[in-house]
Amino acid sequence: MIAANDYEFLRQLLLKRSGLALSGDKQYLLNGRLAPIMRDHGLTSMAELVLRLRGANNEKLERSLVEAMTTNESFFFRDKTPFENFTSVMLPKFLATRTPGKPIRIWCAAASTGQEPYSLAILIRENAAKLAGWRIEIVGTDLSQEVLDRAASGIYTQFEVQRGLSIHHLMKHFAKVGDGWQISPDIRAMVQFRQLNLLNPFHHLGVFDIVFCRNVLIYFDAPTKSEVMARLAKVLAADGFLVLGGAETVVGLTDAFRLAPGQRNLYVVNQGGAHPPAATEARPTLPVRVALAR
Ligand SMILES: C[S@@+](CC[C@H](N)C(=O)[O-])C[C@H]1O[C@@H](n2cnc3c(N)ncnc32)[C@H](O)[C@@H]1O
Repeated sequence: MIAANDYEFLRQLLLKRSGLALSGDKQYLLNGRLAPIMRDHGLTSMAELVLRLRGANNEKLERSLVEAMTTNESFFFRDKTPFENFTSVMLPKFLATRTPGKPIRIWCAAASTGQEPYSLAILIRENAAKLAGWRIEIVGTDLSQEVLDRAASGIYTQFEVQRGLSIHHLMKHFAKVGDGWQISPDIRAMVQFRQLNLLNPFHHLGVFDIVFCRNVLIYFDAPTKSEVMARLAKVLAADGFLVLGGAETVVGLTDAFRLAPGQRNLYVVNQGGAHPPAATEARPTLPVRVALAR
């Protein structure tokens, strides 16, 4: 049982720290997800947990709480279409309109355990002939350091590699390690991971040509979605693409983006919108560890 005022305290804390907007009836979710944390910290009730959180020096506990409440589900080539669009719409456009000197920069803004950026890296590797001479940089960020550590290890369970990966991709890009599978070092080297909370500024990451921001905005309330989208528009090149999740839309939230012709969940910058991007050039500001397409 969670007392109403304790639930409200936890709800506000999660909203402030991660953008997670819990409705008034999700006590069962907190009970289920927070039980391991309470065990780890020797806490026997929600009231005790809240008391500890209200006290000083609780940063570590707050972080564990926020991480425990994130939904980290991801899988390779999730929803298929965004990845088909990557090779048939997005890359061809840049190849036709850009010069190879500048890198094409891709950001997976809620990368979780890495399946999304690695799916893109696999496609880049498999299109190496077309991409000869182009540099492509993939940055994967997430709120949770725990999932990023898993992503960086590139190790997946049998169950995880069976979700979305073809046998061909598995055999070509993974090696068996113990009970699981590890993605090859050359694919791993194509992605750099770093911790980032989307509620915080992200302009220091530089300007991107493609942003995958999938299945994270659904957890935010409308004002937070609008605010994050407005800032995404500012780090997207004028001819760039925004990819949202299957259940996500910009409608009613921002006029900074419009649907790419004939697409669902693939957006382009709306030049006439309220938040045109601040920059039109890709300016990498991260230490560049790019994939050299071979
Ligand atoms: C459901 S996963 C999505 C993974 C991947 N994009 C996909 O679609 O398969 C959502 C991820 O968003 C992350 N997340 C939640 N709140 C966030 C925030 N405020 N800033 C950055 N990442 C956040 C979670 O840690 C989680 O890994």
